[in-house]
Amino acid sequence: MSYTSARDRLIVALDMPTLEAARTLVHGLDETVSFYKVGLELLFVGGLQFAQELRHMRKRVFLDMKLLDIGNTVERAVNNAAELGVSFLTVHGTDVKTMRAAVSGRGDRPLKLLAVTVLTNLTAEDLVQQGCTMNPGDLAVHRAKLAHETGFDGVIASGQEAERIRAATSPGFLIVSPGIRLAGGGADDQARIMTPDRAIAAGADYLVVGRPITEASDPMVMAETFIRHIKEARAGRAV
Ligand code: C5P
Repeated sequence: MSYTSARDRLIVALDMPTLEAARTLVHGLDETVSFYKVGLELLFVGGLQFAQELRHMRKRVFLDMKLLDIGNTVERAVNNAAELGVSFLTVHGTDVKTMRAAVSGRGDRPLKLLAVTVLTNLTAEDLVQQGCTMNPGDLAVHRAKLAHETGFDGVIASGQEAERIRAATSPGFLIVSPGIRLAGGGADDQARIMTPDRAIAAGADYLVVGRPITEASDPMVMAETFIRHIKEARAGRAV
């Protein structure tokens, strides 16, 4: 099994209004950050081209497209996405048909497919409003099991659910956790947040951090702080 350093376990979410803003941040973070998430905001201002730019800079790329559509459409979309040379791609983990189609579209390419379990800004009340009576934790574990059985490589889940997901799946199944905040930091619009230390201790493999770094007065110092927390928590973890 290949070794992944604490530095390579931090994924910075490039939720930025322009390519210039994203470029400035990436150049400023220099060698400190090796993995970036390109999501919906950046997508509409040239995010896919920027993903190629990041690859030329030898950065890893997580395309957070949160795909959800009929099987045929998802299969063809993933088939094309698998040619982009990115490392991770997200698909909503709501139904097995969509996930099976994604696995088929990926084929034997190295792209890792991650299922979004339950968005980290949702509460139990929000799920009731959607007509779902399961609480976010139970639903996240249920969807993680489906993703695991369907051949996904991992899930996006709150650190609050990481321990139960690890127990319900397998050691190599990737748990990527957003909604990460330092103790005492603001939550923004996130609901099911966790500190980096606790998320890693609970079994998360990668942490996705956006605003705490992108809006920091010194993003590099803040990124180093998160990496230090990941390193310390990994040292205290059995595996
Ligand atoms: O700024 P912040 O650290 O809250 O950013 C978290 C990132 O993770 C955002 O880009 C958001 O889209 C993403 N995300 C999330 N919850 C999920 C899946 C993705 O917050 N379940």
